[in-house]
Amino acid sequence: MATIPTPFSERLGIRHPICLGPMGLISTPPMVAAVSNAGGLGIMGTAMFDSESLREAIRETRRLTDKPFGISIMAAHPTAAGHAEVAIEERVAFVTTSAGSPKKLAPLFREAGIENYHVVPSVKLAMKAKQAGCTGLVAEGSEGASFKSPDEISTLVLIPQVVDATGLPVIGAGGIGDGRGLAAALCLGAVAVQMGTRFIATHESPIHDNYKQALLGLAESDTMMVGRKSGPLRVARNACSLEMAEFEKSTNDVAELRAKIGYHRFPEAALTGDVENGLLVAGQVVGMVDDLPRVSELMARMVAEAAEIFDRKRQGFAAGT
Ligand SMILES: Cc1cc2nc3c(=O)[nH]c(=O)nc-3n(C[C@H](O)[C@H](O)[C@H](O)COP(=O)(O)O)c2cc1C
Repeated sequence: MATIPTPFSERLGIRHPICLGPMGLISTPPMVAAVSNAGGLGIMGTAMFDSESLREAIRETRRLTDKPFGISIMAAHPTAAGHAEVAIEERVAFVTTSAGSPKKLAPLFREAGIENYHVVPSVKLAMKAKQAGCTGLVAEGSEGASFKSPDEISTLVLIPQVVDATGLPVIGAGGIGDGRGLAAALCLGAVAVQMGTRFIATHESPIHDNYKQALLGLAESDTMMVGRKSGPLRVARNACSLEMAEFEKSTNDVAELRAKIGYHRFPEAALTGDVENGLLVAGQVVGMVDDLPRVSELMARMVAEAAEIFDRKRQGFAAGT
């Protein structure tokens, strides 16, 4: 089987430089373990946990895999300090922080010797994360699914600028779905990639089958940004997101907008399978998602495809078709 070792995969002791992005209701212990067992790095979403349920979820993941995995902490969330304490006590291999400043958490992880990458949408926030003491960064472009920065900088231009400005190891995220995306991110200077949308459409993904089937039917132009006034969120266009977009026109009150435009209608799509009236979170890469492979198959074919691209590069791209 092809491998593409990078400084990231070697330091973490994983086979493939591919991470499962943290996603509420999706990046659960069995899914995290499936990705780590297949040679990638599963990263658990933790927003729904209190400290003790996080500890139990980490231990459950350890029962399912002996490979490294990570957790993600929302830095501005009231649970952040407690989650950081659990991560350190449980000696998780890797922590990403997002949605807030890493200033308080980064020194704790550094002292504990735990790799801590902060998710950034711009060079400015990347520099702040570096100053805070993060050991690396996830540079996530606006084509990706979920909450996004108002700057809306795309992955293609974000990765190299964050790499150049910070000199830190960078995981590229947003819009990656196959071996070409993996190869491109590595060429731009990333040490690994993180995927959300592509991993939702896999055999193991614990989401309602209607959600998976809906993703297979979407084109690259079928996503939209809602919440531009209160916190931009990339989702698929459906009755739910169009209703949110309509509501946005009615008020500039940020608290009111946040109450209506957010994840509260995600379980309707993810668990109940109502993909019209529930929130269908997806990134622009969805246009090239057209099957439901096992996570091991998906990662093996991505790495084989990227390795082939690098072989062709060595021979000069003019060779072959
Ligand atoms: C349903 C869903 C929930 C997500 N929740 C989070 C989250 O809680 N924290 C986070 O840092 N990223 C979250 N993300 C972003 C993903 O981890 C990942 O970085 C992103 O999907 C990458 O872009 P892609 O969808 O183009 O692959 C979420 C994405 C999706 C699709």
